[in-house]
Amino acid sequence: MSKTGEEWQVARRRKGAARKTKSRQVSSTCSQEELDLGKTVKRIRDTVSELRCEEFWQGWKAAGSAALSKPPENRDTEGPADQPGSSKDGRLCQQLECVCYGLGSFSSCVSARFQLAMLLLLLDAGQIPLKDCSVYDPAFSSGERAVLRELGLTVLTENEEGKRLATKPTLFYLMHCGKALYNNLLWKNWSVQCLPLMILIGNGFNGMMDRTVGREFQRDYSYIAQAVSVCEERRLPCPSRLIDVFSDTAVITFPIGSLNRLPQSTWAEPPEPQYQHCSDLEIIQRETQS
Ligand SMILES: C[S@@+](CC[C@H](N)C(=O)[O-])C[C@H]1O[C@@H](n2cnc3c(N)ncnc32)[C@H](O)[C@@H]1O
Repeated sequence: MSKTGEEWQVARRRKGAARKTKSRQVSSTCSQEELDLGKTVKRIRDTVSELRCEEFWQGWKAAGSAALSKPPENRDTEGPADQPGSSKDGRLCQQLECVCYGLGSFSSCVSARFQLAMLLLLLDAGQIPLKDCSVYDPAFSSGERAVLRELGLTVLTENEEGKRLATKPTLFYLMHCGKALYNNLLWKNWSVQCLPLMILIGNGFNGMMDRTVGREFQRDYSYIAQAVSVCEERRLPCPSRLIDVFSDTAVITFPIGSLNRLPQSTWAEPPEPQYQHCSDLEIIQRETQS
């Protein structure tokens, strides 16, 4: 992939422009087939090329650019960053890294393949080296892990359950993942220092809240419940033919100004989520050592 051709930049959607690519419906149907490494890599690269021509990609690029162009200490203000630590065109000097959980079986599932292709486009646009992107899904087959390594990505071998501490600005890419994965990620980064380092692309927290019984949401996913009021969600565009793939997706960031308005007690010794009341946890937990 080009290192220079697709930098993050705000691009305008052409109003009223007719869609040129025509609707081959993409469904979430997954099929099982033999994994051929070369063929699978080519299919992913072809999907990247297809997405790059889509008008809605410009919307993703613009939203990503807006999130990335402000250094964490400035993310609650509008306008281009003009701070130490940001470059002239507004990008961060500090190299971003990326963590992707829950992509799914991209060799057999069309949705997961499109999401992987989108991840590769995002890395390219954000100039994030492929090796600085860690991916994990317990559903990956050994063949899929080989494909991901062939693409240049770093494949994690341990189930972190989403509990990854952001020590530098990090893009987290969690497409249609279980709520516990988001909740664990928030818990691990539950401080005024760490949350602003996160740029999360995944399902909107407001939508999660609307779809979950209030009492259970507060009890089981308390970090998401608290984050709803302080995060900034920018919805990402999704064409109807890709609704199964990119629906209800947002860029979520945590402006420092909003975090500072919360009482100090919000941050004191946050308890690790346990989920003992959840009958359907939606994520695969790591095996407990006996
Ligand atoms: C609802 S599926 C979404 C798959 C795909 N992103 C899509 O939209 O079709 C949730 C995914 O999360 C993965 N998952 C479950 N537990 C996980 C964990 N602890 N860490 C990372 N991924 C996990 C599952 O294996 C599954 O692929």
